[in-house]
Amino acid sequence: MPLVTSKEMFAKAYNGGYAIGAFNVNNMEIVQGITEAAKELEAPLILQVSKGARAYANHTYLIKLVEAAIIETGLPIVLHLDHGDSFETCKSCIDGGFTSVMIDASSKPFEENIEITRKVVEYAHDRGVVVEAELGTLAGIEDEVKVSAEDSSYTRPEEVEEFVSRTGCDSLAIAIGTSHGAYKFKPGTKPQLRFDVLEEVSKRLPGFPIVLHGSSSVPQDLVEKINKFGGAMPGAIGVPEDQLRHAASLSVCKINIDSDLRLAMTATIREFLALHPDKFDPREYLKPARAAIKELVAHKIVNVLGCDHKI
Ligand code: G3H
Ligand code: 13P
Ligand code: ZN
Repeated sequence: MPLVTSKEMFAKAYNGGYAIGAFNVNNMEIVQGITEAAKELEAPLILQVSKGARAYANHTYLIKLVEAAIIETGLPIVLHLDHGDSFETCKSCIDGGFTSVMIDASSKPFEENIEITRKVVEYAHDRGVVVEAELGTLAGIEDEVKVSAEDSSYTRPEEVEEFVSRTGCDSLAIAIGTSHGAYKFKPGTKPQLRFDVLEEVSKRLPGFPIVLHGSSSVPQDLVEKINKFGGAMPGAIGVPEDQLRHAASLSVCKINIDSDLRLAMTATIREFLALHPDKFDPREYLKPARAAIKELVAHKIVNVLGCDHKI
């Protein structure tokens, strides 16, 4: 089974009322934990790589890790560039074997976003690669770009038809109240996604796959474990899982999760090292960390995405 694009996956997800999980990968244990869960649950999968991941682990290592996962699991896997910041970054991933790229020009003015997205789409489609674009700005941190809550903005539904038809993009990330990182909502406030915006967008783009970034739910047991074993993450709050599940039953076909993987890994390693101060073999703490990622991803597949047994 070679790498696949998300075209068919999204069509099935849209019609089936579920979403595909797009999990960020940075090293071997993360790739293994995610793909082992997906294999057991027969779930289609998107593995995504950010610019920071490429800088950390190296493009070739990441490609080869994902290829190894395909050999080991036989799963249909999409390899996706997360938050491509320029035509050049997208081109390098398209030329380097990715089957899907995101061009994120959402911080640029509308016309500029269209221009750069269209350029990436032309290059990608000529090579059989699909393109995700973004309209609206999420708060939070991606690589070096930090968007404050004041500068974030919901997607304007009246812009989406023109954007999609003029760019030719294959899926669209929208801003409906999710944000990147572990601190998504002010403590004491009630997290609530803007389903009215999602509904308006979907009405204007029937059958078109919508993407949600910033969709970690920041499980409180993991935050508590981190805080118990020497961490300091007070006030970390995520998107309620029932709201994500609802989004997945509508037009949202791709849900991005990274922070929750980081929390699972870090909580497990902190606990292990605190309980075993004499241990220093990385395999001894990376093994349970990998298992924690597997458990978390299995939970997302069944309870949030609804994409188990969809291969
Ligand atoms: O949206 C951002 C993802 O969580 C990737 O994070 O840029 O630190 O690799 P990163
Ligand atoms: P989280 O920070 O909520 O995991 O979002 C990840 C993401 O959107 C990657 O593009
Ligand atoms: Zn994102």
